[in-house]
Amino acid sequence: MKITKICCIGAGYVGGPTMAVIAQKCPQIQVTVVDLNAERIAAWNDENVNNIPIYEPGLDAIVGEARGRNLFFSTDVDKAIAESQIIFISVNTPTKTYGKGKGMAADLKYIELCARQIARVAKDNKIVVEKSTLPVRTAEAIKSILDNTGNGVQFQILSNPEFLAEGTAVQDLLNPDRILIGGDATEEGRKAIQALVDVYANWVPEDKILTTNVWSSELSKLTANAFLAQRISSINAMSELCEKTGADVNEVAKAIGMDSRIGSKFLKASVGFGGSCFQKDILNLVYIAKSYGLNEVADYWEQVIIMNDHQKKRFSNNIVQTLYNTVSDKKIAFLGWAFKKDTNDTRESAAIYVADDLINEHAKIAVYDPKVSNKKILDDLNYLETRTAANNASSISSFTDPYEACQNAHAIAVLTEWDEFITYDWQKIYDSMQKPAFVFDGRNLLNGPNLEAIGFVYQAVGS
Ligand code: NAD
Ligand code: UDX
Repeated sequence: MKITKICCIGAGYVGGPTMAVIAQKCPQIQVTVVDLNAERIAAWNDENVNNIPIYEPGLDAIVGEARGRNLFFSTDVDKAIAESQIIFISVNTPTKTYGKGKGMAADLKYIELCARQIARVAKDNKIVVEKSTLPVRTAEAIKSILDNTGNGVQFQILSNPEFLAEGTAVQDLLNPDRILIGGDATEEGRKAIQALVDVYANWVPEDKILTTNVWSSELSKLTANAFLAQRISSINAMSELCEKTGADVNEVAKAIGMDSRIGSKFLKASVGFGGSCFQKDILNLVYIAKSYGLNEVADYWEQVIIMNDHQKKRFSNNIVQTLYNTVSDKKIAFLGWAFKKDTNDTRESAAIYVADDLINEHAKIAVYDPKVSNKKILDDLNYLETRTAANNASSISSFTDPYEACQNAHAIAVLTEWDEFITYDWQKIYDSMQKPAFVFDGRNLLNGPNLEAIGFVYQAVGS
């Protein structure tokens, strides 16, 4: 089957960048990204590519090149579905906040809405691709909805999970470690898989395109995220032991990472992992394991989350303890609010939880993040519902100048590893702070000995 038109439902952190790269690499295919959120679509269509809603290095140039040529952003979901041969579903699948599985299971209501809309609109055969991260066997539910509510046309369901990481999305998409496509072993299933393989083969070497059955593909995504997050919780667990024993977690990570069986990546101790994926996907995995009665499997993976929560808590506890057991009315400057560098995404960022703890202790937080707005910071805190919005607003402020954020502060906490923090004039910052001036480096980013030479009391994670 020759593919000339595809669409993607969901213009978020995955749908937007993924489709932009497909459009750039496949000029012969018309790619339409649709979303219910009109404001988001308007931002994707903003004349000035600097104003697209997602900050990712290199993304503006790709959108600038393909938009209006073969890349389109629209709110007309029905039209895009009707026209396309392949429909990607890339909507959000957050943790459920209500009912059965609350706080654990993935909320599939947006997925089901998409399936019902596709069924209603489609007048010819379609390939429906799960791009969102989904519980294993979701394709069964999608197929049932499509076949029972559709117009008698044929649907093939493929699972094609996305492995990009934020901050490096464009590089990850241009040069993926692998593309995973799960589909049925039937004749029609094989044809659908091949159609999607052919799209990726425009720029991805074929030996990196892996095809499996649908269930393996769905479960591989949850498994990959669980393994990655587990490495961070493992090194963070060791960071606490390092602090007690005089070992240095950076040295330990280097020493074990040189073992080729372990590998050096994803061994950076930190204030705890954030982001929209790791916690959500592990909770989902735990829920699935429990639903099959696999309690030991569930407990094993749940420990990754328990350790991560502990790491965030212990970071804020340490600040309070070190500042003579009280931060009441003390200004604490936060460098960074995003969950990692090079993104404006703040979902599940450790900064939110550390701020919440410190505000409980009556601290005044002053945030500087190069890409996160004051409104986003307040929204993130308000979402926790720990206190009123007015109380949050009077406890936290944000600055567009890092030096102002740090002025008169008792302590600085580094929550995100933005490169620019390294290059600051730390003497100037020191001179403007209360003494003793503390730095709590939640990312082991700064040069400790240099800061100590200036006069700072410097504490890193795991040493
Ligand atoms: P997101 O919240 O940024 O984007 C999802 C978009 O879908 C939103 O703009 C929302 O308005 C839209 N949407 C929801 N229901 C809709 C509907 N019925 N019709 C049209 N639009 C609808 O989410 P995201 O970060 O892009 O994640 C999407 C999926 O990809 C999730 O399942 C996530 O787990 C997975 N994933 C995310 C990442 C990541 O780094 N963010 C990486 C890999 C996989
Ligand atoms: C993750 C997966 O890496 C990606 O493959 C998947 O598609 C989506 O989820 P993402 O959450 O965007 O990507 O970023 P990632 O680089 O994995 O970082 C997640 C969190 O872990 C961040 O808060 C990061 O700072 C933290 N981290 C990462 C560490 O604390 N230490 C590390 O060694 C690596």
